[in-house]
Amino acid sequence: MAYSEKVIDHYNNPRNVGTLNKDEKNVGTGLVGAPECGDVMRLQIEVGADNVITDAKFKTFGCGSAIASSSLATEWLKGKTIDEALAIDNMDIVEELALPPVKIHCSVLAEDAIKSAINDYRVKNGLDALVLEKSH
Ligand code: FES
Ligand code: FES
Repeated sequence: MAYSEKVIDHYNNPRNVGTLNKDEKNVGTGLVGAPECGDVMRLQIEVGADNVITDAKFKTFGCGSAIASSSLATEWLKGKTIDEALAIDNMDIVEELALPPVKIHCSVLAEDAIKSAINDYRVKNGLDALVLEKSH
């Protein structure tokens, strides 16, 4: 299968690979896995004043499209508010990276990871978890 240039770019130069301290109160950690292939993605956000995401990191043990999807997601997350981050749809990622149909679930993984990180942040800060996971 041919990867798009943008996937290859993110795969070769992944942005924001790393780890934030999950014990910090202003850090949300999302950990999700794809049932299709067993790939695993961890995505973390750091939230500052006014609900603005000041940092985002990821580690993905998965295919090139999953790595590119999470790398792109961290780029998009920085500077967004939580509400704006919740509006990121996996199809935005599909479009940006020109993912083929068999790779759509890799982008779903990134959307789920964002939402899972936001939920972790919310619960840590005394808010209810949102029910937002896409049902596949
Ligand atoms: Fe499963 Fe990409 S995450 S093939
Ligand atoms: Fe994740 Fe279907 S199992 S998109």
